[in-house]
Amino acid sequence: MASVRVAVRVRPLSQREKDLSAKVIIQVDGHKTSVLNMKDNFHCMSGESCGESVKSFPYDFSYDSMDSTSPSFVTQEKIFTDLGTDVLQAAFEGYNACVFAYGQTGSGKSYTMMGNPVDDPIKILGRRTGRLQCVNEASILAACPFLWAFYFEIYNERVRDLLPSTETQGCELRVREHPKDGPYVEALSRHHVQSYTEVGQLMQEGNRRRATASTGMNHVSSRSHAIFTIHFIKAMFDADLPSETVSKVHLVDLAGSERANATQATGIRLKEGANINKSLVTLGIVISALADLSVGGGLKKKQNFVPYRDSVLTWLLKDSLGGNSKTIMIATISPADVNYSETLNTLRYASRAKNILNKPTVNEDSSVKIIRELRAEIARLKALLSAGNQVS
Ligand SMILES: Nc1ncnc2c1ncn2[C@@H]1O[C@H](COP(=O)(O)OP(=O)(O)OP(=O)(O)O)[C@@H](O)[C@H]1O
Ligand SMILES: [Mg+2]
Repeated sequence: MASVRVAVRVRPLSQREKDLSAKVIIQVDGHKTSVLNMKDNFHCMSGESCGESVKSFPYDFSYDSMDSTSPSFVTQEKIFTDLGTDVLQAAFEGYNACVFAYGQTGSGKSYTMMGNPVDDPIKILGRRTGRLQCVNEASILAACPFLWAFYFEIYNERVRDLLPSTETQGCELRVREHPKDGPYVEALSRHHVQSYTEVGQLMQEGNRRRATASTGMNHVSSRSHAIFTIHFIKAMFDADLPSETVSKVHLVDLAGSERANATQATGIRLKEGANINKSLVTLGIVISALADLSVGGGLKKKQNFVPYRDSVLTWLLKDSLGGNSKTIMIATISPADVNYSETLNTLRYASRAKNILNKPTVNEDSSVKIIRELRAEIARLKALLSAGNQVS
């Protein structure tokens, strides 16, 4: 069993927030992120007694990316090293892994997962020039000759291929559930990749197709949930038999939770917003149900039900939430007082997610595992037989 690990990241004040003369209400101290309610008390940040008006939450990681001149400033690079390294390590060991970014619209999810597309094209899995410490490009190629990449988005509850082949171009793809491997997207096109550079190129190509639009809150707002998946196929010999492990890494950039009045959405944008919120509400219910399961152990049967199938997003993330995966949630927040209630919601949500217990297991080749077990059984029976012969 392994808990979902949670990181919180605070971005700098945006121009819009500066124009509104917004105040910074977030403080990061070690693993703890605190939020101040300015309406209750103005003086807390200067160290005076704050009573109930400061709420603090401990996480596995708290990242302060508010001010690049501050000594506590955390760069993209540091986040990639902390989190990306673990994800790659897990995949190499044969585990599934998932990183998903959650937070209010405009809080920095896409920036953290994909980098700034204009001047900082870097991704959570690594970068061309600053390689991850434990696994570099050469070792990926040596140890893992097969990497398949997939990229799709869920837009208005429909699945679209972001790297389409001629067959999947413009099609709505279906989600199915394999009895052993769980939910998957049928007929999704796959792409053989050999380096980070190729992974990065595919990600950028898919991002160009992804549904984005300018809203009142974010001029590059993601209007869909995007899931980039890499299958690591590792060939080896096990019990003298050729065998392979297939581990899946999902990188999930969710569309942001939003309030219709803040984004000034109407028409198509409003419908998109309603669908985005529907999947996020389901995600919230799934996280709550899983957190209750882990904390309460044996709650009543009815309460134990986890409604994965209520949205395409949660159905496809079934393994990553409460299943066979090492999962990391990155909750992104704005530092500004104008976003107080959204930020508090995100921090509470992230706190609940910490309680989710997953069951990561190495994805062994099942036929090789059976052969190994049968061989052990034969050896045991032979030993019993020869012991019997000796007695007679
Ligand atoms: N850590 C950061 N440092 C500098 N700029 C950032 C950071 N995080 C976000 N930004 C900037 O803030 C804006 C909004 O970020 P981003 O698009 O990543 O938000 P989002 O959470 O993905 O929003 P949405 O849910 O609408 O897609 C972008 O212009 C981005 O470049
Ligand atoms: Mg986004």
